[in-house]
Amino acid sequence: MNAAIRAVVRSARYNDLAVIGVRYGYEGLIRGDFVDMDSTSVSNIIQLGGTILKSARSEQFRTAEGRAKAAANAKAAGIDALVVIGGDGSFQGASKLNEEHGVHVVGIPGTIDNDLSGTDETIGYDTALNTAMEAIDKIRDTADAHERLFLVEVMGREAGFIALETGIAGGAELILLPEALTEIQDIKAQLGEVFRFQRRSSLVVVAEGDETGGAYKLSENLKDDFSRYEMRVCILGHIQRGGSPTARDRVLASRLGSAAVQSLVDGHTNVMVGVIDNQIKITPMRNVWSKKKSINYELLELAKILS
Ligand code: F6P
Repeated sequence: MNAAIRAVVRSARYNDLAVIGVRYGYEGLIRGDFVDMDSTSVSNIIQLGGTILKSARSEQFRTAEGRAKAAANAKAAGIDALVVIGGDGSFQGASKLNEEHGVHVVGIPGTIDNDLSGTDETIGYDTALNTAMEAIDKIRDTADAHERLFLVEVMGREAGFIALETGIAGGAELILLPEALTEIQDIKAQLGEVFRFQRRSSLVVVAEGDETGGAYKLSENLKDDFSRYEMRVCILGHIQRGGSPTARDRVLASRLGSAAVQSLVDGHTNVMVGVIDNQIKITPMRNVWSKKKSINYELLELAKILS
């Protein structure tokens, strides 16, 4: 997110536009927590995880009164347009602000889950993938040394993008994700096959949103049939959301931050900027959450072939 903030500020300054940072997201908009920003306020942040502007969930912004207050504050501060970095919840809020109060809004897709239509990748996804992959590599050492079965749970909310790609990159024997329904009997059969070929260790990547109920629940359901193997569960959790961003994420965030400013200059509003097939694309915000983004089923097939 910091790389995107930097790009928004510097591109806006390049276009002779003033920039005001809103701290704590919509909560800060309601409180009027604003800070003037210039090129130097975003120096030395491209390599930092998180966001210098902080983030917060805002219950108040879900109400019409909260949004009215936010819009009034924005107008009083001379804010003509809002650049919102976030996922579908943030965009639904931005869209309402636009429809109810005429505030111009543009969204920048920022979520590790990568579950937004209108862009091939979201900011944070690649960093999360690499963090999860490195963790899996480390877990593999113990799995291998002790010949254990590891169930590693990754984030992604209701989507399996992180599970699919970290599973492939980490050489998982099995990948379980919400987009591919798998019966417990099939999981047992597939794991049985893995052990029949005398693998020294096994690692299953489970998406937190998988219908098995996550890694702990799955281990409960597997423990009787696989009691001869030592099984361990590892939930990767919030380490996936932090750390210095990868080069790929920094470049994506820089492109999207700049594109967001350009789209406002060009007169767009209530849209999200994304990158599709390496080209900047502008999508009406509504389409971002109303159209479900599909995982790449070819990758899922590939994972099966390679495991
Ligand atoms: O949407 C990003 C995400 O990290 C999900 O993958 C995860 O389910 C959720 O947020 C965790 O949210 P919180 O930090 O509020 O527990």
